[in-house]
Amino acid sequence: MKILAFGASSSRQSINKALASYTANLVEGAEVTLLDLNDFEMPLFSEDFEKEFGVPAKAQIFVDAIAQADAIVASFAEHNGTYSAAYKNIFDWASRIEKAVFQNKPIAVLSTSPGPGGASSVLAQTVNSMPFFKGNVVGSLSVPNFYDVMKDGEIVDESVKQALSGIAAKF
Ligand SMILES: Cc1cc2nc3c(=O)[nH]c(=O)nc-3n(C[C@H](O)[C@H](O)[C@H](O)COP(=O)(O)O)c2cc1C
Repeated sequence: MKILAFGASSSRQSINKALASYTANLVEGAEVTLLDLNDFEMPLFSEDFEKEFGVPAKAQIFVDAIAQADAIVASFAEHNGTYSAAYKNIFDWASRIEKAVFQNKPIAVLSTSPGPGGASSVLAQTVNSMPFFKGNVVGSLSVPNFYDVMKDGEIVDESVKQALSGIAAKF
C-alpha cells in the first residue's frame, strides 16, 4: 500500500510531520512517501494571479501525489485556531485543479501541538470539511502535549500509541 504522509505545516522541524510519518509507518507493509510542504511553496492564491498566469505547476505535483497514493496520513498544525497559511495556500491552489482534492482516498486526519489543546480546532474543521473534498476519513486523533508524548521519534504515551495503531490498522 502506497501511503502519502505530510504535516500540514511549513516548519522544517514540524511536529505534525513527525506524527504523520510515525503513523504512516505503523501501517503493515506500507511504502511511505513523506511530503515536505516547503517543496510546494507558491505565490499566495489569488484569482487575479490565476487569470494572468494560471495555476502553478507545484499544485499539479501535489494533486498528482495524492492521485498516486492508496491512502493518506495528514497531521494538521494549528495557527490561530485554523490551518497554517502554508497548507491553506497549497490546498486552495490544488482545489483549482481538482475540487475533490483528496480524490476519494482513505485518509487519517491527525493534529498535534505542544500545548494541551492538541490543535483540536483545526482537526475538527478538517474532519468536518473532508466530505466536500472527497477525503474518506478512516480515523482522526488530536494529540496534545506533543513533547511529552513523542521523544526521539518514539511515542512514549501508551494510550496515544494504541490509538494511532488502531487508526493505522483501518487502512
Ligand atoms: C502564528 C502561530 C499561531 C499558533 N496558534 C496556535 C493555536 O491556535 N493552537 C495551538 O494549539 N497551537 C498554536 N500555535 C503553536 C503550534 O501548535 C506550534 O508552533 C506547533 O509546533 C505547530 O506545528 P508544527 O511544528 O507541525 O508546525 C501557533 C503557532 C504559531 C507560530
